[in-house]
Amino acid sequence: MSPHTSIVILAAGLGTRMKSKRAKVLHRAGGLCLLEHVVRTALTVTAAENIVAIVGHQAAEVRAQVERHGIRFQLQTEQKGTGHAVLQAMGMPGLDHGRIVVLYGDCPLVSTRTLERLLAAHQSGATLLTMYLENPTGYGRIIQDAGGHVAAIVEEKAVTPEQRAIKEVNPGFYCFDAPLLWPCLAALRPNPASGEIYFTDVLEALRRDGHPAARCPVDDPTELLGINTRAELAAADQVLRERKVRELQAAGVTIEKPETVTIDADATAGPDTIIESFAQLLGRTTVGEDCHIGACSILRDTRVADGVTVHAFCHIDRAEIAAKAIVGPYARFRPGARLLEEAHVGNFVEVKNATLGARAKANHLAYIGDTEVGPASNIGAGTITCNYDGWKKHRTVIGARAFVGSNATLVAPLEIGDGAYIAAGSVITENVPADALGLGRSRQTNKPEWARKLREHRQKTSKG
Ligand code: UD1
Ligand code: MG
Repeated sequence: MSPHTSIVILAAGLGTRMKSKRAKVLHRAGGLCLLEHVVRTALTVTAAENIVAIVGHQAAEVRAQVERHGIRFQLQTEQKGTGHAVLQAMGMPGLDHGRIVVLYGDCPLVSTRTLERLLAAHQSGATLLTMYLENPTGYGRIIQDAGGHVAAIVEEKAVTPEQRAIKEVNPGFYCFDAPLLWPCLAALRPNPASGEIYFTDVLEALRRDGHPAARCPVDDPTELLGINTRAELAAADQVLRERKVRELQAAGVTIEKPETVTIDADATAGPDTIIESFAQLLGRTTVGEDCHIGACSILRDTRVADGVTVHAFCHIDRAEIAAKAIVGPYARFRPGARLLEEAHVGNFVEVKNATLGARAKANHLAYIGDTEVGPASNIGAGTITCNYDGWKKHRTVIGARAFVGSNATLVAPLEIGDGAYIAAGSVITENVPADALGLGRSRQTNKPEWARKLREHRQKTSKG
């Protein structure tokens, strides 16, 4: 049986170098906040009750982001350094035995593989992943002792000119035997220059006690990078997006110009779906098999069934699109828009809190809000459902196989029966029975010769 593993994740700092009002771990990369990535990976190697997040800055918001996983939290009321942060977990039930892994909440690229490597490398005492960077600026430098163990970690602010050139750095992934860690950590003193307790100092202290930490160098630093600045945030986002693209490609999705698409961590797409350049699948969007998602279309928290075509430049938010429906180009779906099988919604049509039945069509320039459209009905160009009277929203219900002519104004609340016909240009304020014609516009009058007489009059007056 593998030894009991607890994981302490530090997430209490503000992240001064981000120059932000928001706590650093709340910033997002790959569609999730930074801490969410770390917690999800931690959950792949130990159970939720063995994971403790140390929170401080905007503790309530940070907690709310990851609480549903069932992990534990500990408050660091004042941010007195990474060592002080880890100390907040001392004495918590379960953390007095087995192994303690310490992770930083600002390292969202961490993968299960990374943690498995750390746990596999850990024999006894302390183990630390290390990486080599061409530009080690910002990271703690690893000082080796004669035996190749960690003698100390020197922070950027304190390095001597020779130490500055050291390319082996501390990515911040540690594993300890719990009984060794806590007494050593509790005895640490604040750094005289900054007044903070540096967690990294625990390694020097352990060595003094005869337990120097083992180094475990990792070849690919990509999964270990920390985020301290907006530029590093963008770089991490790019890595996460690339990972997501590769995951979907491996599952049989074609992605055109993959470097341009934005696919959030929780979005999915089925095999033989084609995603064109600059498309975005955000939040919990799920796209089925054999779909086509056009260039620059943005789908957020939307469910798309199989065989759906979304043409270019659509904006779709919290909608549901059933099999073989066709959308766009330039369609806008707001929350609660539902399109049933083989329905079509075309360019410049806005749909909000409305259902279009199977094979129903609204192909051009319409607003369909708080509406039910029955199967196989046709909504003409320019149709507007007037759902709002200035105080309240009202519903429009249109039956099956109805035909709404172009430029109809449908004033809700309103019911239009099955098979009814609405004359183009009508303002419809009363219910229309099934199979009836609703005609709500003034009768046309033609005045014979009127235009010719006007022309002649103009010619005469302009000559004179
Ligand atoms: C830290 C390491 C450095 C390492 C780098 C890797 C220390 C002293 N330095 O530096 O050796 O190379 O990470 O990315 O540990 N935090 C708290 N409470 C605090 C201070 C920080 O919870 O009082 C949290 C932050 O929210 C953050 C994490 O600890 O998630 C790391 O803090 P940060 O200030 O980013 O440390 P680095 O300067 O990056
Ligand atoms: Mg950092």
